[in-house]
Amino acid sequence: MSNPHAGTAASSGLYTDRDRQVLTWQVYVALIAFGIGILQGLAQALDRVLPAGSTLWTLFPGLSNYYQGLTAHGVLMAFVFTFAFSNGFMTLVHQNALQRRPRSLVILLSLVSLGVGSLLAASQIFLGKASVLFTMYPPLKASPVYYVGAVLVVVSTWFTALNALLVYRDWRREHPTDRIPLQAFAVLATYAMWFIASLGVAVETLFLLLPWSMGLVPLTDPQLARTLFWFSGHAIVYFWLLPAYLSWYTMIPKQAGGRLYSDGLARMVFIVFLLLSTPAGIHHQFTDPGLRTDIKALHYVLTLGVFLPSMITAFSIMAALEGAGRARGGRGLLGWIRALPWGNPSVAAQLLAMIGFVLGGISGLVNASFTVNLVVHNTAWIPGHFHLTVGTAVALSVLGICYWLVPYLSGRTLWGRRTALAQAWLWLVGVMIFSRGQIMGGLEGLPRRLNVSGLAYDQPFWATSHAMTAFGGTLMFVSGCLFFVVIGMTLFYGTKGAHAPIPVAEATHDARQSWPVLDDWRVWIGAAVFLIVLGYGPVALTYAPHFVSPPNSAVIGGG
Ligand code: CU
Repeated sequence: MSNPHAGTAASSGLYTDRDRQVLTWQVYVALIAFGIGILQGLAQALDRVLPAGSTLWTLFPGLSNYYQGLTAHGVLMAFVFTFAFSNGFMTLVHQNALQRRPRSLVILLSLVSLGVGSLLAASQIFLGKASVLFTMYPPLKASPVYYVGAVLVVVSTWFTALNALLVYRDWRREHPTDRIPLQAFAVLATYAMWFIASLGVAVETLFLLLPWSMGLVPLTDPQLARTLFWFSGHAIVYFWLLPAYLSWYTMIPKQAGGRLYSDGLARMVFIVFLLLSTPAGIHHQFTDPGLRTDIKALHYVLTLGVFLPSMITAFSIMAALEGAGRARGGRGLLGWIRALPWGNPSVAAQLLAMIGFVLGGISGLVNASFTVNLVVHNTAWIPGHFHLTVGTAVALSVLGICYWLVPYLSGRTLWGRRTALAQAWLWLVGVMIFSRGQIMGGLEGLPRRLNVSGLAYDQPFWATSHAMTAFGGTLMFVSGCLFFVVIGMTLFYGTKGAHAPIPVAEATHDARQSWPVLDDWRVWIGAAVFLIVLGYGPVALTYAPHFVSPPNSAVIGGG
């Protein structure tokens, strides 16, 4: 082999050494956050089975109580792990799809903003000055430094979006009539959606929380803050999910030896997420008394609309996988499933993530339903649901992607294929038991976010839920440790050599067969803004007078 790095980021010709290091560090920061996050997660899970008054917290570095650990777990997993991974991974995919160099300064600013923001936020959490949970709305109050850190973490995603936009504009100038390569299309749709959605939490933090935390204003408006938070807070779920969808649609078929089913269908799915992710946020506020019922009903319908692209995804990915399995010699009704490359840890982890996500997606319909939601609202059902989604489709997919991405970035061969496979299976088993335990507890009235070892009223019939949650969470932690063994050994002992480039699947029905209007951003961003105005306009209108003379509290929409 003339070039030992063939197929790695170093050999692609797209990156200077510094650009490559910047993007590599985005991925490593994500993994560091994940590592600290699973340690906190273990503490949360074990809390369920410890004797009352346990002093477990003192055994975990930096923790003095349950809510501090819960905040660290939520913030590190939901903001730092996901954002940093997306910053690195999506940029690498985008540059590769358009075959252009990134804007060095912009991607550097993204990393700096992420690093500084994470350190500021984490320092406040571990100092005990920001036990506000990842939802961080009032009446819980954190130190001003925490809010500044949180904003910087969001700003890092804006720099990543800016790089994607600038690189795309350069590409467009040189290719005025070409269809956008699908992977770049997916990156652009994801960041267009997230940029619009993220404005809610940015406005909440900068204009409500920060002045209140600094003592510049004596009061703030919890209802408005919650509404702004959930403006971003539902769409953020898709910001976590879409990098995984990008991998499932445009990489897994290639890795499995098949083709993407339809390029146009994939584009349509990303567009529906751009349109419907944000004007659905009020389904998190179905029990908020200050919001009008008709607004809640509208968000309910739009939420069900976001289920559609996931159904299309299930069909589309299944078709691609069946094609791949049959091309590998799979016969009969289900023989193609066995024929898939289950021995490849990157593929296996993501196939298992899909299996978990089916249950996660379906349980989401319960939360989304205006009436059924009342049964599970604010119970342990909710973390049961979102660990079935974020813990599978997002986290397990990210781990699976890392099994080719880390070799691609480091130029070293993946160490320990069998350990990596064991990691993926153990994670799925763990998250299933954990989530089933949480869901069971929720149906039995167990509130979410409960410091069980500190409870005076723990119910005997919650014992099974507690045991499953603790056991499943422990398995997930062990699986996470196996992941770090594999990655650590790869980085230090993996042999240097040739590696596969970024996977890019061909489509059975390619872009030329789909409508050109799918690539017209003006249409889709315009439609997305229109739907947001429809979904949040009535809320904003009611609040408008209060911005002139701020009240203590307000009833949105006149109740
Ligand atoms: Cu939601």
